[in-house]
Amino acid sequence: MGAIEQLDSLAKEIVDQNTCPDLASSATQLVMGEGSAQAEIVLIGEAPGKNEDIQGRPFVGAAGRFLDEMLEAAGLSRQNVYITNIVKYRPPDNRDPLPEEKAAFWPYLMRQIEIISPKVIITLGRHSGAAFLPDLRISRDHGRLHTVRYHQHEYLLIPLYHPAAALYNGSMRQVLVDDFLRAAEVARKATSFSG
Ligand code: URA
Repeated sequence: MGAIEQLDSLAKEIVDQNTCPDLASSATQLVMGEGSAQAEIVLIGEAPGKNEDIQGRPFVGAAGRFLDEMLEAAGLSRQNVYITNIVKYRPPDNRDPLPEEKAAFWPYLMRQIEIISPKVIITLGRHSGAAFLPDLRISRDHGRLHTVRYHQHEYLLIPLYHPAAALYNGSMRQVLVDDFLRAAEVARKATSFSG
């Protein structure tokens, strides 16, 4: 089975296994993620919001437009990265995802990453950053390069601020843009060195 089919079958499994039934019943649909199934960079947000829930695609609202701008500034596009969230159903009223919801989706997220097998993981916001780095302090650790291991694989991980948090805050916005460009550069180097 190719990577696209494996991702499709993982999405079906999430639904069939009745993962987070309360969220599943209040959400419109599962938002699995989108982009290249062979991407070198996977971007991970928190959970779908209202627009994502309606469209079934990650990061399609205001934060998503900002993310698109940063991708473009870094010479990337949605077609050559993969964008997803830890929690794949919209939490009601856009509340923060609960620890048990993040825990329920974690094994699926990691299988998703193993299928895509990227070099670099970019987390967006403290929820997805702290899922990989339990001691994360986003104000201290944003933009710093980490290495995480899962099963036999090693990934470079760069935690960034969430684009929604930076959207209307000029100085944080610039920090995020700078971090993003550096993260893209790390990814480019990691990709060209290891083929
Ligand atoms: N915020 C997120 O964390 N993810 C989305 O998909 C949209 C907004």
